[in-house]
Amino acid sequence: MNYKIAVVPGDGIGPEVIDQALRVLDRIGEKYNHNFEYTKVLAGGAAIDATGGCLPQETIDICKASDAVLLGAVGGWKWDTLPGDERPERALLGLRKELGLFANLRPAILFDELSEACPLKPEITAGGLDIVVVRELTGGIYFGEKGFKDTDLGPAAYDVEQYAEEEVRRIAIVAFDMAMKRNKKVTSVDKANVLESSRLWRRVVAEVAKDYPEVELNNLYVDNTAMQMILNPKQFDVIVTSNIFGDILSDEASQITGSIGMLPSASLAQGNFGMYEPVHGSAPDIAGQNKANPMATILSAAMMLRYTFGLSNEADAIEAAVKKVLADGYRTPDLMANGGKEMGTKEAGDLILAA
Ligand code: NAI
Ligand code: MG
Repeated sequence: MNYKIAVVPGDGIGPEVIDQALRVLDRIGEKYNHNFEYTKVLAGGAAIDATGGCLPQETIDICKASDAVLLGAVGGWKWDTLPGDERPERALLGLRKELGLFANLRPAILFDELSEACPLKPEITAGGLDIVVVRELTGGIYFGEKGFKDTDLGPAAYDVEQYAEEEVRRIAIVAFDMAMKRNKKVTSVDKANVLESSRLWRRVVAEVAKDYPEVELNNLYVDNTAMQMILNPKQFDVIVTSNIFGDILSDEASQITGSIGMLPSASLAQGNFGMYEPVHGSAPDIAGQNKANPMATILSAAMMLRYTFGLSNEADAIEAAVKKVLADGYRTPDLMANGGKEMGTKEAGDLILAA
């Protein structure tokens, strides 16, 4: 079959890790007889340099006309002095909004093959970890009204946290559907002891839960969740939460898996359309040095095969190849704290292809 993929290499290590992911997809295409057709488009700093804006209309149009989007990362020191709404990172918010990507899935999996890289005590993580954070992505404080005003204490700035019941309902449905395919456990995270928007969140999640009688629902405050993630992460399976809480908790969860270079993500719209990208950024400190770990991007491509194209055997094949390379003792520099055979970005791609 033919699949149209819009590819946004982006900035910094983005193009380096994307190159390896496309090599892996090409190999899967050959082996399983699929044709992945890539259209490379500009976003972020690369787009600012070429067109003056971080998200050209052409990029939006091509993404919308594709079956899925694969993105590297955007941003970098070069553009850090631009005003907030002109920075490369605005392209991500723009793409999420334009493409209706309201659900962000961030799996945090501690591979047995990488257990040495986890900073938690071995007795806490024995047997590995497999948590998925389902983060609401197009609402909340990142998209609410913002501005400046004068107050008794002088000039002030504000950002409004706001959630419509419908926004909460649709993300809760994604989380409960996922729980049905996993271990039938959802933890909904909020701050309902102080926030009105969180009280609405909790009420709507409870309503959705009535349609999933087999799923166990727990409500937890976000501050306690941050603590429990370190103390007892095994209690979590599917975590569903708002945009800002999910941003923070998924980064925290990422660290129990060893390296941010291992973490894929999916952002889904209604239907099967999705944008797939590593959780990490453009890592300007290691860009252009063949040091970046491409596994997060390669695993994101695997998620694309699984969730948008429904190709689970092909996704399994990629994940198995990544595990094989880790089991053979190869590590990119970000995973070398406890030793191993060092590989660069390109060599990681070579080894995964060979596996
Ligand atoms: P970052 O994720 O780019 O880097 C944080 C640290 O992790 C750095 O030390 C980096 O070398 C390391 N790292 C990240 N990815 C790695 C990989 N694949 N392999 C090995 N090491 C890796 O986050 P940072 O430094 O906060 O941001 C850098 C730029 O990226 C900024 O402009 C930021 O706005 C942007 N950014 C973009 C994102 C995106 O495109 N989705 C997400 C996060 C940040
Ligand atoms: Mg973040």
